[in-house]
Amino acid sequence: MKEIPKVPVKNFIIGNIGVFARNPLAFFEDNRHEFGDIYEAQLSPFITTYVFCKPEYIKHILIDNAKNYKKSFAYGFLRRALGNGLVTSEGDFWLRQRRIAQPAFHRDRLANLMQTMTLSINEMLGKWETYKAHQQSFDITQEMMRLTSDIAAKSLFSSDISDIKDKVIDCINNLNFSISNMLKSPFGRFVTWLPTKNNRLFEANQKEFNEIIYSIINNRRKTTTTYHDLLQMLLEAKDEETGEGMNDLQLRDEVVTIFAAGSETSSNALAWAIYLLLLNPIKKEKLQAEIKQVVGKETPQLAHLSALPYANQVIQETLRLYPPAWIVGRAAQKDDEVDGYQIRKGTQVVMPTWVVHRHPDLWENPHAFQPERFENEQAKARQKFAHFPFGGGPRFCIGNNFAMMEMVLALVMIVQRFDFKLLNEQEVLPEPMITLRPSKPINIKIT
Ligand code: HEM
Repeated sequence: MKEIPKVPVKNFIIGNIGVFARNPLAFFEDNRHEFGDIYEAQLSPFITTYVFCKPEYIKHILIDNAKNYKKSFAYGFLRRALGNGLVTSEGDFWLRQRRIAQPAFHRDRLANLMQTMTLSINEMLGKWETYKAHQQSFDITQEMMRLTSDIAAKSLFSSDISDIKDKVIDCINNLNFSISNMLKSPFGRFVTWLPTKNNRLFEANQKEFNEIIYSIINNRRKTTTTYHDLLQMLLEAKDEETGEGMNDLQLRDEVVTIFAAGSETSSNALAWAIYLLLLNPIKKEKLQAEIKQVVGKETPQLAHLSALPYANQVIQETLRLYPPAWIVGRAAQKDDEVDGYQIRKGTQVVMPTWVVHRHPDLWENPHAFQPERFENEQAKARQKFAHFPFGGGPRFCIGNNFAMMEMVLALVMIVQRFDFKLLNEQEVLPEPMITLRPSKPINIKIT
């Protein structure tokens, strides 16, 4: 068996958590540089963690031997907020829920959602006319969060959340922040029951978010109107053996999961896409030219989406440079082996998407924004799992087509109508929370 190099530790209990918590992205990247594509890091006392940065190894975990791997220890923290929904559940229960939800994400259904998406985007752009008239600057990340949560609520749950949009965003932000803090703190993660400031922040926001979600569920249970959305499918689903439907808690878990997973990821990607375009005016002009030629001043229709290769490439390249799900983790259920390295039962395998997506052996000039990398020929020739923003294997993102449609549509409609000036003088760095967010507001002004 080949030996796996280990990142040195000074303190047996804390291990590498301190250095990791200070800058998780640099931690994974610097250690890859020093130790190579597979190394051991002590990110939790008494649990072995391997970090995999090689596409073949990642494929092994997520596809080839996926049945041997469950979600890693870190997803336990996510479970505190999301409950036992699609992202965190396992085994037969997960499979049953996935089968129930899958049809809601079918391409035909998505085509029907296009109008909902364009209406939400247009509503936002209408508001931006006022910003323009008053020469008012704004934070694009906040705007994108409002947009994607509005789209998620309307398209998946037919719910209008206009009145409480800011409250919902605050809750998601605070839950994201408090869970990330738990994960990064060597002790905080073990004392989640103590009334610390962080734990209280978590509890208060969890309560408020639950109230909102339960009111969406209760209103739907009372209504006589028939809806054709995901919530309806979840409500009507029956257990094959017992004939029982989901109880309120199960429904809540699925709704919260899909709502949070579906809004937080796309909003960050869109904010980064606008940021990257503003830093790269030549790429922006190329996109503007494509939009002008294909869509003109019309509202984009379904047929346009496949005729906008460059817009798709801009999104793919943004997901490469700033993958919203910047890390994926699994835990081995039985002993396993990959390329002569032994993985013992219980080992945590961490796959830092961020590092793989900027790996110099896989990408030429890896830090540069070059959407052309995703032109057909280049993309086809690329190794599987060199680019895996939506994960892979059985746990592949269920919302991948939904997200691509939403992001391309929003990008096209924004660029079609407005041009901006970036007001930030310093580089906006990514902040790895549950998702990869901009560390500070990206302030822009319409020109
Ligand atoms: C840019 C947008 C998005 C990115 C980058 C993204 C990324 C991911 C990744 C990497 C996973 C797999 C996690 C793992 O294997 O542990 C995942 C799973 C999931 N995503 Fe997404 N996602 C996005 C948008 C969405 C949207 C729009 C929805 C729903 C509307 C969604 C719902 C889910 C769900 C429910 C799962 C769990 C699937 C399962 O295990 O069966 N995601 N996503």
